[in-house]
Amino acid sequence: MEVAFEYFLTLLLSALVSLSTAQYFTHRPKPHQPAFEHDPQYRELQRVYDWKNIQYGFPSEREREEVLRNGRYNPDSPIPIDIDVYYPPQGGAARHFITTPRFGQGVPYSLGYVTQVQRENGSEIQAYPSYDWHKTHGGDCNGLTSVYRVHIDACGQMWILDSGEIEFVQHCAPQVVVIDLASNQLIHRYRLPEDTFKAKVSRFVTILADIQDPPPLGVCKEAFVYMADPTSKAIVVYDVKANKSWRVENKFTYPDARFGTHTVAGESFELLDGAFALAVTPKGLGLRRHLIFHALSNELELAIPLDVLQNSTRWQRGLSSSLEEFVSLGRRGVQCAAHAVSRSGFWFCGFLEPIGIFGWNIQTPYTKANLKLLALNPKTLQFVSGMKIVTRPSDGREELWLLSNRLQRVFGGTIDYKEINYRVQRCDVDDMLQGRGCVGS
Ligand SMILES: *[C@@H]1O[C@H](CO)[C@@H](O)[C@H](O)[C@H]1NC(C)=O
Ligand SMILES: *[C@@H]1O[C@H](CO)[C@@H](O)[C@H](O)[C@H]1NC(C)=O
Ligand SMILES: *[C@@H]1O[C@H](CO)[C@@H](O)[C@H](O)[C@H]1NC(C)=O
Repeated sequence: MEVAFEYFLTLLLSALVSLSTAQYFTHRPKPHQPAFEHDPQYRELQRVYDWKNIQYGFPSEREREEVLRNGRYNPDSPIPIDIDVYYPPQGGAARHFITTPRFGQGVPYSLGYVTQVQRENGSEIQAYPSYDWHKTHGGDCNGLTSVYRVHIDACGQMWILDSGEIEFVQHCAPQVVVIDLASNQLIHRYRLPEDTFKAKVSRFVTILADIQDPPPLGVCKEAFVYMADPTSKAIVVYDVKANKSWRVENKFTYPDARFGTHTVAGESFELLDGAFALAVTPKGLGLRRHLIFHALSNELELAIPLDVLQNSTRWQRGLSSSLEEFVSLGRRGVQCAAHAVSRSGFWFCGFLEPIGIFGWNIQTPYTKANLKLLALNPKTLQFVSGMKIVTRPSDGREELWLLSNRLQRVFGGTIDYKEINYRVQRCDVDDMLQGRGCVGS
């Protein structure tokens, strides 16, 4: 593996910050040591769903025929991007949500849940919250135009990020729509104001809602919501309580042209995308909390303190706002796509090369030695675009969920619908870190 994970000690303004990045998240007590060491063998994840092609369900056979005829459904157009999982707190079947954004025409709906119905190309999905929310393809701004990713919080609320555009035609303002999953009712909506996005350039793809009043005491009404807009190269912060949002855009949210070619399994595509993957460091570690993020087209992993991001007055000076607060954690030497952080402070990301899931304890330096290969499969882990850590209410254990989609084949036009192209896989987080394998947890 030709990966230069050289350790990177650069501080942006070293005069201002005396901590080295090596200890950036390091707490005084000795960091919790993972047990990766005892078994370096690569483990498979557990298969949950796989598809040759996305298999949509429709309200009626007549509707399916109609949209096939008028071009609003082209089976070769959809690409799944994200996965999230809802466990009803009182038990009952888990619900698995998938997004298939409207990158182009021919996508009948961009948010759905997986059903048990088996069809030719895999498990059938159905539109969520309902088909009506999606059917106008940008004609109804009270519906959903194009959903890239969602985030389900600890109160069973789904935070939906709707980019509002199809092929960069901005039909509606980008919006955050919150649905209560127990009742399937709309409980909140926020349309982004014009100064937070750039029509024809923006594409909002990633959302993370950091709840300020979590259960059991809170009700998840107060949140800071972080949204990534990689095409206009910014992160937007939305303060729910203050009904306000602002843009964070600077050299750290930008791509690095040297990482604009993405090569997966020998096939390449070009993408110069900025800030893309978002995660927050957990509460309870006794550390100042940060947003950990990276651009898709960059090798750098970065962090910014949440208290700085949350203060709108610190972002009024455009590209030069709060630059000294950004921390370069380290370099990977290769791109990784979606990421997530567990409550014990382990970061996970799907690397393009080798094609696997790497884990890193955020309380250690971001170096080659500390980036551990936890799962490796050059076939099933091709381009992990969706990744979530979900807590099971039955026993409080965390699970890593991911969706892989062979994006290089979609861009290269080499996708073969006779093969399995899209997969949802999972693993118990502790089992994965301890090298115990994933099945049976
Ligand atoms: C399965 O996918 C293929 C390839 O896109 C498509 O031609 C076919 O219509 C799909 N089958 C169903 C039942 O949707
Ligand atoms: C939030 O602010 C917008 C405009 O800035 C306003 O139109 C809207 O009514 C506000 N919403 C609430 C709940 O105060
Ligand atoms: C926000 O930042 C401004 C400017 O740096 C500072 O004066 C203010 O005290 C900060 N507010 C909070 C709540 O930290």
